[in-house]
Amino acid sequence: MSPAIFIDALQQELQSIQYGQNPPELYNPIRYIMSLGGKRMRPLLTLMGAYLFTDDWRKAVRPALGVEVFHNFTLMHDDIMDQAPLRRGQPTVHEKWNGNIAILSGDVMLVNAYQLMLNVEADKLAVALARFSRTAAEVCEGQQMDMNFETRWDVSEAEYIDMIRLKTSVLLGYSLELGGLIGGADEETNLHLYEGGMNIGVGFQLKDDLLDVYGDPAKFGKQVGGDIIANKKTFLLIEALAQAKGPLRDELIDWLTRTKFDKAEKVKAVTAIYDQLGIRELTELRINEYFARGFANFDQINARPERKGLLIQFARQLVERES
Ligand code: IPE
Ligand code: IPE
Ligand code: MG
Ligand code: MG
Ligand code: MG
Repeated sequence: MSPAIFIDALQQELQSIQYGQNPPELYNPIRYIMSLGGKRMRPLLTLMGAYLFTDDWRKAVRPALGVEVFHNFTLMHDDIMDQAPLRRGQPTVHEKWNGNIAILSGDVMLVNAYQLMLNVEADKLAVALARFSRTAAEVCEGQQMDMNFETRWDVSEAEYIDMIRLKTSVLLGYSLELGGLIGGADEETNLHLYEGGMNIGVGFQLKDDLLDVYGDPAKFGKQVGGDIIANKKTFLLIEALAQAKGPLRDELIDWLTRTKFDKAEKVKAVTAIYDQLGIRELTELRINEYFARGFANFDQINARPERKGLLIQFARQLVERES
């Protein structure tokens, strides 16, 4: 089995989804954002999670796409909140259309996500939907914390980890757990899958924060430096605030408190401060730590070694990713 088979299955099913036609302003942005691709990591995790326990992993395809549509809905709204110009190398929906269109199209995507999720087998549906709803609410909680943190200066690393667990990790945890549930794994196993996904999710968001500063604009697909411009309390900034002393600290605080600034100049200056403090290396260490925790969670799972290997190999690539 190769991941290409999972990707093909997802792609084929994606093309069969009918999002609706009228009014076009409501539905075209959905087709647009879904057509921009992305890594499709969450549905792949669901399929790999199911494949750990069943050969009939195809029954997980539509629910897996429910998770992917939900993820794309969060991106559409996140890009409004973050005032992001680019997504997957293309203009964001609120830039290409407008903010109101991005709000409402996103709302319909949340409904679409539930419709896809209804394809979970009847005896597992209530659990799948209850867990999905809990997860979706947590993502919103994390997103609000992320926004609240923009204007705070005393965010601790622990608070940051709590925030990214909610905005990002719970959905990765759920993606895997959903696969286990559909595949027929027991509750304890599903908990290991969830915990593993959570830990990998923390590593994944740390890597996202790192790429936001150090990514190659040609590969990253998003505006590099967006987090610095918005004073996002990323792991990088929290560490820099904790470590910078004397004039370097004054310079950092000065950039964070300026109301008028040239964006490129601010990004360059704050990045130079990170460089001086070795923040990049520190972030890489932390990424590896969380991925290792995730792999330790997977060690607890009783499944065919070659199938578990597929999942671990896939997760490993996420450490090295450039987009
Ligand atoms: C972006 O997620 C949002 C985060 C949680 C960091 P991805 O990096 O999975 O985005 P796509 O779907 O591959 O574009
Ligand atoms: C967003 O985190 C996570 C969600 C979309 C819920 P970011 O704001 O860092 O994601 P990107 O970098 O825009 O993809
Ligand atoms: Mg964002
Ligand atoms: Mg955001
Ligand atoms: Mg980001």
